[in-house]
Amino acid sequence: MSDKIFKALIVDEQDDSVISSVKEWSVDKLSEGDTLVEVDYSAINYKDALATVKNGGVIRSYPMIPGIDFSGTIIETTHDGLKVGDKVVVTGQGTGVSHTGGFSEIARVPGEWIQVVPQEMDLKVAAFVGTAGITAAQAIHRLESIGLNNDKGASILITGATGGVGSMAINLLKAQGFTNITALTRKKSTDYLEKLGVQHIISTDEMLENTRPLQKQEFDYVIDTIGGATLEAILPKISYGGGIALCGNASGIKFNTTVLPFILRGVTMFGIDSVQLTSDEKKELWQTINQSITKEMVESTISNDVSLEGILPVTKQLLEGTHSGRTIVSIK
Ligand SMILES: NC(=O)c1ccc[n+]([C@@H]2O[C@H](COP(=O)([O-])OP(=O)(O)OC[C@H]3O[C@@H](n4cnc5c(N)ncnc54)[C@H](OP(=O)(O)O)[C@@H]3O)[C@@H](O)[C@H]2O)c1
Repeated sequence: MSDKIFKALIVDEQDDSVISSVKEWSVDKLSEGDTLVEVDYSAINYKDALATVKNGGVIRSYPMIPGIDFSGTIIETTHDGLKVGDKVVVTGQGTGVSHTGGFSEIARVPGEWIQVVPQEMDLKVAAFVGTAGITAAQAIHRLESIGLNNDKGASILITGATGGVGSMAINLLKAQGFTNITALTRKKSTDYLEKLGVQHIISTDEMLENTRPLQKQEFDYVIDTIGGATLEAILPKISYGGGIALCGNASGIKFNTTVLPFILRGVTMFGIDSVQLTSDEKKELWQTINQSITKEMVESTISNDVSLEGILPVTKQLLEGTHSGRTIVSIK
C-alpha cells in the first residue's frame, strides 16, 4: 500500500511564492498515522483558503496537502476500536496545516483523530458539517451554559452569516427552535440568507454606525466569526447577562473595547477553538448535530460541489469574501 499512487492538491513553496496544483502523490509521502482512509468528500473552509496563499499563516511545513475536513472509508488500520470499512470523518486537529489533509484521494491520520460517522448520516453530509458545524455547535453549547436555552425567543446575532460557520450556526439554532435570529452580512444580496430562513438581516455598515461604549441592548447572544471593528461595535449592544462566542477573525485579529459591557452588564465572552477538542467532546457535538440536520438544510446551504481541480477558484472567493454557504469537494 505504501507505494500506492493517487491524486491530491499539493501546496508548495517556490521561490518567494506558494503554488498549488493537483498532482500524483503516494502513501509514503503522507504524514504518519495508524489509519488510511479513502476520502469521499471534503469541504472548503476559510482556513483551507488561507492554506493556498503565501503568508496565510496556517501551513506549518511544505509541501502540504490542505483540507482540514474529510469523510471517507477506512482501508487500513491498526487502531483499537476502528476497522476496515468504517465510515469516518475527521475535522481539525493538525489536518491540512501540519499534517497532510483531506484534499486527497487517500489520507493517513492517527486513529484518535477519527470519528465514526453517526449511522443515519451519509459521508457527504458529514463533510458538509465538518469544522464549520462543529465550531458552530461548540459555540452554541458554550452559550447554553449562560442560559441560551432558557428562551427560544432570545435575540441572537450571527456575524459572517453567509460563511460556513455562520450558516451552520443559523441552521443549528433554527433546528433547535430559536425564532429571533439576526444575520449580519456585508453582502448586498440577501437571497441566500432568506433561503436559510433567518428572521432578520442587517448590514455590517449599519452595525458600524454607532461607537459609544454602551448602547441599546439589542442582542442577548452573539456568535461572531469575523472579529475586528465589527466585534467592537457589537459588544456595547449585548444585553445584560448575555454573551458572545468568538470563533473567527475573517475581518481582523485586533479589536478595541472598554470594560463597560463586562462590568456593568455582566456580559460573558467565550473563545471557541474547535481544532483541539477531545474525541469525547467531538462525539457529543456530532450527536447533537445529527439530531438537527435535515435534507432541506443541506440543500439550502451547499452552494457548490467541485472536484479536486475545482478547489482553487473557490478558495479565492472565500478570501475575497464573495462566497456563500458550503462548497463540497467530491473526491472519490
Ligand atoms: N475557532 C475555531 O475553531 C474556528 C473554526 C472554524 C473557523 N474559524 C474561523 O471562523 C471564521 C469563519 O470561517 P468560515 O470557514 O466560516 O469562513 P467563510 O466560509 O469564508 O465565511 C466567513 C464569512 O465572513 C464574512 N467575511 C469574509 N471576509 C470578511 C471581511 N474581510 N470583513 C468582514 N467580513 C468578512 C463573509 O460573510 P458575509 O459576507 O455574510 O459578511 C464570509 O462569508 C474564520 O476566521 C475562520 O478562521 C475558527
